[in-house]
Amino acid sequence: MSTLAIIGGTGLSQIEGLEISGQKQLTTPYGNPSAAYVLGRISGTQVVFLARHGNPHSIPPHRINYRANIWGLKELGVTKVIAAAAVGGITDEMSPGRIVIPTQLIDYSYGRDHTFFADDLDQVTHIDFSHPYHEPLRRQLLAAANKAGIPVSAQGVYGCTQGPRLETAAEIQRMQRDGCDLVGMTGMPEAALARELELDYAACAVVANWAAGKTTSTITMAEIERNLEQGMADMLKLLHQYLLDC
Ligand code: HPA
Repeated sequence: MSTLAIIGGTGLSQIEGLEISGQKQLTTPYGNPSAAYVLGRISGTQVVFLARHGNPHSIPPHRINYRANIWGLKELGVTKVIAAAAVGGITDEMSPGRIVIPTQLIDYSYGRDHTFFADDLDQVTHIDFSHPYHEPLRRQLLAAANKAGIPVSAQGVYGCTQGPRLETAAEIQRMQRDGCDLVGMTGMPEAALARELELDYAACAVVANWAAGKTTSTITMAEIERNLEQGMADMLKLLHQYLLDC
């Protein structure tokens, strides 16, 4: 049996429909996770939920203790992770409100503790990361979206920036030339750490705004929150369908 975790990002600090059975506050060799892990069931399936930015939402992307978060999930017996994320849309298909199950990523973040394989090593380890998202889990999420009648983009390249500031228009143009479809701040090192601990990991992104320079208007938190409301409601439907089927 596999235990599934959902990591909630901006706009998803708790899950509607989660029958909570307990909470686990863990300390790991890497420090404290962002929040207590919430244990419960959705549609009869056991789920662990973690609010990536803390609860209340107070930890900025570059200060998240990604290692502690992922280590704690492993310690709880989690084998699969669905990472919810708010993103900016770069390419035409990625309009606000759109849900995307990304296929690839490019990491532009820096200075984050990004590996478990750093200290006290018997040997040097290089994980394979050619395909950062677990393809069977991605397929299951896409099938759930189709069944629930929620339009999704079945592929996309996620670019992870450092934040907390948003990008310049030139940075977004460069990212587009690099092949990025989406921009977010929390996809890395989370995905790589999950791979290091052999957790199946896929992301479910909701487009909150057009990325910098894609429109003439400035990006405001109010706009992001407004667009996220509908997108996150759709994402919850998708997750419920996935859990019904798994
Ligand atoms: N850039 C980076 N991260 C984001 C954005 C963005 O435009 N929107 C939501 N998360």
